[in-house]
Amino acid sequence: METGLIVFSGNANRPLAERICDSLQTTLGSASVSNFADGETRVEIGSNVRGRDVFIIQPTCAPANHHIMEALIMADACRRSSAQRITLVVPYFGYARQERKNAPRTPITAKLVADLYETSGIDRILTLELHTSAIQGFFNIPVDHLFAKPVFANYLHSRPDILLDLIIVSPDAGGVERARALAKYFNCGLAIVDKRRERPNESTVMNVIGDVKGRNCLIVDDICDTGGSLTKAADTLAANGAKGVYAVVSHPVLSGPAISRIEASALREFICTDSIPLSAEAIKCSKIVQLSISELFAEAIRRIHNSDSISSLFV
Ligand code: R5P
Repeated sequence: METGLIVFSGNANRPLAERICDSLQTTLGSASVSNFADGETRVEIGSNVRGRDVFIIQPTCAPANHHIMEALIMADACRRSSAQRITLVVPYFGYARQERKNAPRTPITAKLVADLYETSGIDRILTLELHTSAIQGFFNIPVDHLFAKPVFANYLHSRPDILLDLIIVSPDAGGVERARALAKYFNCGLAIVDKRRERPNESTVMNVIGDVKGRNCLIVDDICDTGGSLTKAADTLAANGAKGVYAVVSHPVLSGPAISRIEASALREFICTDSIPLSAEAIKCSKIVQLSISELFAEAIRRIHNSDSISSLFV
């Protein structure tokens, strides 16, 4: 009987799954994840998983609903095939922005998705930069929550032009904790853009709290969806006298007008991870730099498999 770790991928981000496997010096387990003629997801696991430590890599990028179903059905297949443990690796945990009721008669989708994952037989979650850390508590199974900071910091050390006269900027009040962590790491100041959102996916930048004049502003955010929040923040910082405006964004959702907004904005560089694959349009955008989280995830998977601590990956 084969034992040990085995990694599978759904269709959400196969290139990332392959990079993670390269770092682990293994190859992806065999799994056919396709569709029936009517669009239902059809899964057939080709590799033996009996008694094995299974990792399924599947971020919730677009089409989010479809990719969630693939993860659930893959987990169900592995559970019914006697996997010893199933870890769902979700580099981008979607539906996380609705993590509380902020208006009457609205859902809490982050909790619903957490319940769905648990029901399918998933034993633990490995994820990156949740919209808010409290989502960990929506699960009754262990959640290992990684941060993109080490990946961004490593890149920024090679960019003294950005680090000179640096100030870290949170594009809204909700992102201050994330921005403060990077400001503390680089031992520099912190500014906040006070944003008032009138409708979902639309934002109005009101004010900059902090002095950004003559500084290199590095905006830190977890998600860039339509790019409205980010580009309005960038243009506001430029209007307030910033020397250069850059952004580090963990999850490049980049839907709708995001790329054209980034192109037209004051942003000099949009630095993101590969938690979500870039579209052909995004790949062509010269302002976008994509850094890989594959080694970070490979190390986390290795440590989870060996029951080692992963806290040193949080720095
Ligand atoms: C908001 O709380 C998030 O951190 C992002 O700033 C937001 O989801 C980005 O959305 P968009 O790019 O559509 O403005």
